[in-house]
Amino acid sequence: MKDTVILVVTGSVAAYKSALLARRLMERGLLVKVAMTASAERFITPLTFEALTGLPVLRAGFPQSGQAPMEHINFSRGARLVVIAPATANTLGKLAHGVADDSILSMLLACGLPVMAAPAMNTQMYKHPAVQSNISTLAARGVTFIGPSSGSLACGEEGEGKMEDVETIFAAVMEKLGGVKDLAGARLLVTAGGCQEPIDPVRYIGNRSSGKMGLAVARVAAGRGAEVTLVAAHMEPSLPGTGTPEGIRVIRAQTAVEMQEAVRQEFVRCDILVMAAAVSDYRVESPAAEKVKKKSAMRLDLIENPDILASVALEKGDRVVAGFAAETEDHLASGRKKLMAKNLDLIVINDVSRGDIGFGSDYNEVTLLTRDGKKIEIARATKDVVAGAVLDHAAAIWRASQAMEQPEAS
Ligand SMILES: Cc1cc2nc3c(=O)[nH]c(=O)nc-3n(C[C@H](O)[C@H](O)[C@H](O)COP(=O)(O)O)c2cc1C
Repeated sequence: MKDTVILVVTGSVAAYKSALLARRLMERGLLVKVAMTASAERFITPLTFEALTGLPVLRAGFPQSGQAPMEHINFSRGARLVVIAPATANTLGKLAHGVADDSILSMLLACGLPVMAAPAMNTQMYKHPAVQSNISTLAARGVTFIGPSSGSLACGEEGEGKMEDVETIFAAVMEKLGGVKDLAGARLLVTAGGCQEPIDPVRYIGNRSSGKMGLAVARVAAGRGAEVTLVAAHMEPSLPGTGTPEGIRVIRAQTAVEMQEAVRQEFVRCDILVMAAAVSDYRVESPAAEKVKKKSAMRLDLIENPDILASVALEKGDRVVAGFAAETEDHLASGRKKLMAKNLDLIVINDVSRGDIGFGSDYNEVTLLTRDGKKIEIARATKDVVAGAVLDHAAAIWRASQAMEQPEAS
C-alpha cells in the first residue's frame, strides 16, 4: 500500500510549480491526491493534475447531484500528510481562523493530518502584520512552514515571498514522512572529501573539497534504506568522533592511489557508485622520507594519478556510475565530455568558482546530465536536497536496468 500525500494548490502564479511537485512525490512512490481552490483553477487546470496523478481532483465547489456528497471528509482518509503549495495569504488566513467556506478548507479542518505549507505571495503581503500573525498562529498549532525564499516575484518586485524551490519542498515533505525506504536493497558506494598527496611526512598537496556533498549523498542514501559504504578522504569538518556516521561503513583513504584501491575492492559489491571525492590529478613522484628542510626554492616532480572513475566505469557491467565534475568554466561542455569519455551513467556538474555554493558550503546548485541525453537543473539548495535529487536519478537508472534484466513472465 502506497503512502498518500494530499497536495493542496491555491491561487498563485506559483501554482504551475505544483505540477512538478506532484511528479517528484510520485517518482518517490507516493500516491498524490490533489485538492484545488477555485482561484487555483484560474492558474492551472484540474485536468493537468488528473492526468499526472491518475486520480480525481477535489474541487472547491459543492458536489453536483450524483457526486459523492462527503468527499470533503473522505478525501483525506488514509493519507499521511497535507502540503499546501503554493499557500496564498487568503488560504492561510482562513485556515488560521477556522473558516470553512469551501470543500478545500473544510477538508483541511476535518483531515486531522500534519499540515505543511509553502507560502507564495508579494513581499508586502507576506510582511503584512495580519499575514505574519496568521502564520504564527498556524505555526503554533503545528503547521510546518517551508520558506518562502527571497527572489524576483511574479509581480515584478524583488524580495521575500517567493515559493520555496520545488526540490526543497519535496525534500521537506520526504523528511516529514520519514521512513520512506525507497532505496532498501540498493548497495551504494560513495566517495567523499579531498585527497591529500604527501610531499614529506608533514606536508601534502591538497584541494578545497570539504566532503560535505559526498557525505550528504551517503547520509541521505542510508536514511532511505540503502546499504552504504563511504570511502572518505580528508573531510572538513572531520567525520564525527567514532569516524562512522550511523548506518554507514567508512573506509579511510588519504591519497588517490589508496582511494583507487578501496573503490576497486568495494565496486564489485555495489549497485550504484557515486564519486563525489576530489581526487588529485597528480601526486609527488618521490615523497621525501624525512621533513624537507627550508631552502630558498623547491622543485616538486609530479606524476599523473590514476583516473579512478574511468577505470572502474569501463568494467561497470549493470552497475550505475555517477561522477561529480567540479568546473570553473565551460561547465556543460566539459561535463558532457567526461560523461561520455568515462562511460558514466550520470554526471553532476557544479560550478566551484562561486563562493555561495560548492566547496565548503552547505549549499550547492548543480546540473545533472545523463547518458541518455537528459539535462536536469537543480536550483541552489542544501547539499542534502541536492543529494536526494542525485540519488533519485541514479536510482531510476538502476531500477530501469534491473527491470530490463527481469525475465519475461511466461
Ligand atoms: C495574477 C494573480 C496572482 C496572484 N498571486 C498570488 C500569490 O502569489 N499569493 C497570494 O497570496 N495571492 C495571490 N493572488 C491573489 C489570490 O489569488 C486571491 O487572494 C484569491 O482569493 C486566493 O484564493 P485561494 O486562497 O482560495 O486560492 C493573485 C491574484 C492574481 C490575479
